[in-house]
Amino acid sequence: MIESLNADFAVGDYVLGSLGWREKWKSTGEGVSLVDSKLAPVQTFLGVLGMTGMTAWAGLTRVARLKSGSTVFVSAASGAVGSVVCQIAKLMDCRVIGSAGNAKKIAWLREKAHVDEVFNYNETEDLSGELGALAPNGIDVYFDNVGGEHLEAALDHMNIHGVVVSCGMISTYNSTEPVPAPRNLFKIIGKRVRIEGMLVSDFLDQQYAFLNDMSGWIKSNALVWEETVTDGLENAPKAFIGLFKGDNMGKSLVRIA
Ligand SMILES: NC(=O)c1ccc[n+]([C@@H]2O[C@H](COP(=O)([O-])OP(=O)(O)OC[C@H]3O[C@@H](n4cnc5c(N)ncnc54)[C@H](OP(=O)(O)O)[C@@H]3O)[C@@H](O)[C@H]2O)c1
Repeated sequence: MIESLNADFAVGDYVLGSLGWREKWKSTGEGVSLVDSKLAPVQTFLGVLGMTGMTAWAGLTRVARLKSGSTVFVSAASGAVGSVVCQIAKLMDCRVIGSAGNAKKIAWLREKAHVDEVFNYNETEDLSGELGALAPNGIDVYFDNVGGEHLEAALDHMNIHGVVVSCGMISTYNSTEPVPAPRNLFKIIGKRVRIEGMLVSDFLDQQYAFLNDMSGWIKSNALVWEETVTDGLENAPKAFIGLFKGDNMGKSLVRIA
């Protein structure tokens, strides 16, 4: 028989917590929060309404302090964070340029997320040249999920007083040698570029403002998202490794039961 001994949680409630990959656990209720399954499908609290959505929202609104009319470049643009960044920037009347690693992702960004300019970096020999052609008036905000050559290309085209939100550097996570790029870091001096690292956990006190904005956009169908679901705890490592190969479209989720 299943029963709850905690008055804050009823049998059948959905809860959210960072408890690791596991099939079951016993909880006192500490470190878990209730999820409002009427607001949106529960798994969205792991994506657009969860950590990755919050990263996008906080990075753009709090770190970049994005202004409407800006030109925003987003790498890993079809991923869990990037796809939300692109769409929030569009909702804020910005011009958005996105890069991604295959044709399916490029088509989704163009057709579903209505990103203004997109390119497949795997089919581009000259990343900086491509970006310069798509951003003839320069870039005001670069939302960096990738680092490495993407960051170097973005620095070439940042506007004066532009902002780089350093969210992730996935292209370098598995490097076994020190990474040379960006070799043009000196450009931040003349252009007075602000490069700011961010961690989503610094913004937990702004959860209410985030959920308010996000749930409003979701209710008005202003946001779309994709999920790549892998079944079975035994397949979790495969799903994780897939992130580094671009296997996922949108949020990568592992379904356990
Ligand atoms: N700072 C924070 O608080 C915070 C929070 C969450 C996530 N992050 C970071 O934000 C980034 C995005 O996270 P996410 O959860 O949204 O992941 P994701 O974008 O859903 O998945 C990772 C994507 O990165 C791209 N990628 C992998 N290797 C690459 C490479 N060598 N060069 C260029 N692109 C590459 C792949 O897409 P393509 O097929 O397009 O290459 C892959 O699908 C990651 O760097 C992550 O570590 C930071």
